[in-house]
Amino acid sequence: MPYAPEHDELPNPLRVGLRADSVPEPCALVVFGASGDLAHRKLIPALYNLALTAHLPAALGVVGVSKSEYTHEQYQEDMREAVGQFSRTKPVDEDVWRDFAGGLRYVPGAFDDDSTFQRLAGTLEELDRARATRGNRLFYFATPPSTFPVLLRQLQKHRMIRPPGEARFTRVVIEKPFGRDLASARALNRMVLEVMDERQIFRIDHYLGKETVQNLLVFRFGNTIFEPIWNRNYIDHVQITAAEELGIESRGRYYEEAGILRDMIQNHVLQLVSLTAMEAPAAFDADAVRDEKVKVLRTISPLEGPEAVAQRVVLGQYTAGQIAGNDVPGYREEKDVAKGSRTPTFAAIKLNVDSWRWDGVPFYLRSGKRLPKRLTEIAIQFRKLPHALFGEGAAAPNTLIVRVQPEEGIALRFSAKVPGERYRPRTVSMDFRYGTAFAAASPEAYERLLLDALRGDQTLFTRKDEVEAAWKLVDGILQTIEAPDAPPPFPYEAGSWGPRESDELLGRDGRAWRRP
Ligand code: BG6
Repeated sequence: MPYAPEHDELPNPLRVGLRADSVPEPCALVVFGASGDLAHRKLIPALYNLALTAHLPAALGVVGVSKSEYTHEQYQEDMREAVGQFSRTKPVDEDVWRDFAGGLRYVPGAFDDDSTFQRLAGTLEELDRARATRGNRLFYFATPPSTFPVLLRQLQKHRMIRPPGEARFTRVVIEKPFGRDLASARALNRMVLEVMDERQIFRIDHYLGKETVQNLLVFRFGNTIFEPIWNRNYIDHVQITAAEELGIESRGRYYEEAGILRDMIQNHVLQLVSLTAMEAPAAFDADAVRDEKVKVLRTISPLEGPEAVAQRVVLGQYTAGQIAGNDVPGYREEKDVAKGSRTPTFAAIKLNVDSWRWDGVPFYLRSGKRLPKRLTEIAIQFRKLPHALFGEGAAAPNTLIVRVQPEEGIALRFSAKVPGERYRPRTVSMDFRYGTAFAAASPEAYERLLLDALRGDQTLFTRKDEVEAAWKLVDGILQTIEAPDAPPPFPYEAGSWGPRESDELLGRDGRAWRRP
């Protein structure tokens, strides 16, 4: 039973979801890694859509920087093609594009070459004059982490970073992965904080840009009826699934280094845990919200040592199988992957949040590549009925499912009487769907996050202590599984829900994974 919005007038589908009341200040946005995948697929299409929906200041300049040789015009053409292919709205509005492309520049060059930064400075000054960008700068590191130190050094050396509080702002957006373990994340934080202030740093986790993830805050703290039951008295356990049909695509080299724990669990999945488990913030501002999220990470008992890891963590690696009827290779047959690779592509983890609210309520997490479908959801499983009035096993416990993607929405599963003379209960579902309720497509995660970075709102970005707390949790597991004598991940067939051992993780507790 889909819900309908209560107002008569539906919002303009293009504008929905982003606040139009605060258009950011004029600014020049510099994208390092401008010829890469992220710029093509996400960043420039997101900026174009922000321009289309009138969320950008008229005075915006964008400069792409990378090694590839393009002229300004060639880069503009290449990006026009990327927008045509990857924009969420089609066809491309040529007037909007022309205006946006008028402020698009390109600077070719290596990051360790001073002349690249001298030319970048020249281009930025030219943009300040031609587009009135007023000396405000947003630097976006859409590059591998190994480039971050040199980029920071060069920006500092070429006096491109201004202290906070000055009339002209400097901000830096840093893509994930932010480090590869706790020690490297700490070192990176130290390095970044040597050249700028925390208020200038925007560590991105694109899951926080998703509407449905932000809606967790509204769902929990904008309603009165859920909060009283959102605790150990009513909830039996929580299951968080982030499943993908995709394999590793052409990212073998990156993935061999990362694996599922660094690629999905440390960031996206732990963000979902924090938002599900956090207490109500004192105010809706960047620090109050992030304070509560960090507290959750700190109250999770760390998983350290072979015994704890063996009991609570199951890792898997996909073998050849079928996805949607097509044969797909196993992980070890993928390009740039070692034949004897031990990199996990699947993880199932049991966490305990040791707080007053959650004591005794396990959080089961699972994420994997080459699973049967793309699906991210948070399932809150309520306690069993205290008394089986309608027969043993007749009524399943209530479940509340927050569907992050696809079919974004929330479903409540409860028992209803099957029509007829007997009292036979069956589980039915009350379903809220974004698509029908708001009749509009949500903005892409990168639209929201770029806009927030341009506005200087850090609420949806990861703070220093938060990123370190998340690494601390994952670090214990990494150290155990990456020890030379650690067992390899369990194989699972592509197209299955992971290794059998993942089912046993819940089975030992008398529970089972949902089969969404
Ligand atoms: C990225 C990971 O951060 O998130 C990818 O590096 C993964 O491996 C992707 O596929 C998933 O994002 P989404 O938005 O498709 O769920």
